[in-house]
Amino acid sequence: MKPSRQFFLGLCSMLTLGFLYYSGRISLRGLGYDSLYDQQGFLRKLDGVSLPLELMYKYGNLSEGACKPGFAAAKMTAIYPKFTKLAPMFLNPNYKRFFKIGDYSPPFGVKSQEKIIDILLSATKSYGLGEELDSANCKTCIVVGNGGILANRSLGPRIDEFDVVVRLNEAPVRGFERDVGSKTTMRITYPEGAIQKTERYEAQSLFVLSAFKALDFKWLRHMVFNQRLRSTDGFWKSVARYVPRDPGDMRILNPYFIQEASFKLIGLPHNKGQMGRGNIPTLGAVAITMALHNCDEVAVAGFGYNMSTPHAPLHYYEKIRMAAIKESWTHNISREKEFLLKLVKAGVIQDLTNGICSAGC
Ligand SMILES: *[C@@H]1O[C@H](CO)[C@@H](O)[C@H](O)[C@H]1NC(C)=O
Ligand SMILES: *[C@@H]1O[C@H](CO)[C@@H](O)[C@H](O)[C@H]1NC(C)=O
Ligand SMILES: *[C@@H]1O[C@H](CO)[C@@H](O)[C@H](O)[C@H]1NC(C)=O
Ligand SMILES: *[C@@H]1O[C@H](CO)[C@@H](O)[C@H](O)[C@H]1NC(C)=O
Repeated sequence: MKPSRQFFLGLCSMLTLGFLYYSGRISLRGLGYDSLYDQQGFLRKLDGVSLPLELMYKYGNLSEGACKPGFAAAKMTAIYPKFTKLAPMFLNPNYKRFFKIGDYSPPFGVKSQEKIIDILLSATKSYGLGEELDSANCKTCIVVGNGGILANRSLGPRIDEFDVVVRLNEAPVRGFERDVGSKTTMRITYPEGAIQKTERYEAQSLFVLSAFKALDFKWLRHMVFNQRLRSTDGFWKSVARYVPRDPGDMRILNPYFIQEASFKLIGLPHNKGQMGRGNIPTLGAVAITMALHNCDEVAVAGFGYNMSTPHAPLHYYEKIRMAAIKESWTHNISREKEFLLKLVKAGVIQDLTNGICSAGC
């Protein structure tokens, strides 16, 4: 009898709290005075957000440093109640049932790309991270950005400790292991950002396409079936012509993350669901959004810039200086940084290089 009574008491207080919470929000909304939440739906006061009690107990029991199941999603939900975890990392043959992407064209969805996607998925045949990671009950992930802020920090060994190491575009590993680690679980790229010299691909890792336009799916078809790319019309710079990966090691990133990052989390212009008016999130923000949905703990490194060092390199692997940053017409970097700041401030993600909060958090 006792446990069930406790259960009902618990349920009761949860319902009451839930009611207070909703009525609070509704009445605030009704008055046009939604001061608790910002325009995107994030809590305005981000410091000191706490987790549900049962999670605190659960985490309190874990040994120091152990992976905390559900941590990132719970924190995210605490500051952004609209968050729902369900969104698979990669497209799989059931993607049409994931209704959120059907009505949007690339980059925000799969509209009118279904035929080619079906062909691609029937060739790659695998849609997860691999048996071991897929069945793990807790995964820590790190998204390694390409920022010069990674240089000379010797974070390599720490990065390699994560279960899933996500790298972006052509960011090299070989020769930079001390600072960026040597493990790569997946490399997320678009055609123009993909590594072009085949010898520079690491021996193992998933090759993940993040498609920003319809042509990117066609490009992937050439890579998957190892067909000669006859023309590069339509790409904004040269693209890789061969990707040294078996089809079974290739994936398509769920375009929902681009949609959610742009329209919901960052709040870029909807533009009738079409690409334009600076509404494309950077690949880094897309990868972080993916990780929030699919990892139990999320860290980043190499994001943001240290404003007090304008002569530092922009990327950890080349000599272009930060001062060379140009105003971008596709991305809205300052807007995006506000989003990343919220995540760091609230402790949803951990920033190993502190670049996101460089001007203070
Ligand atoms: C925490 O650990 C104690 C002792 O091992 C156990 O009795 C308790 O059920 C655990 N609590 C949770 C929430 O896992
Ligand atoms: C990193 O260290 C190397 C060798 O000491 C130096 O040449 C380079 O300028 C340093 N890079 C940065 C960004 O400090
Ligand atoms: C970025 O977003 C801000 C705030 O919405 C806006 O004022 C600014 O014009 C945008 N910048 C670009 C480059 O689109
Ligand atoms: C930024 O650079 C300055 C000068 O090199 C350094 O003192 C400071 O610690 C750096 N900040 C971060 C967050 O790395």
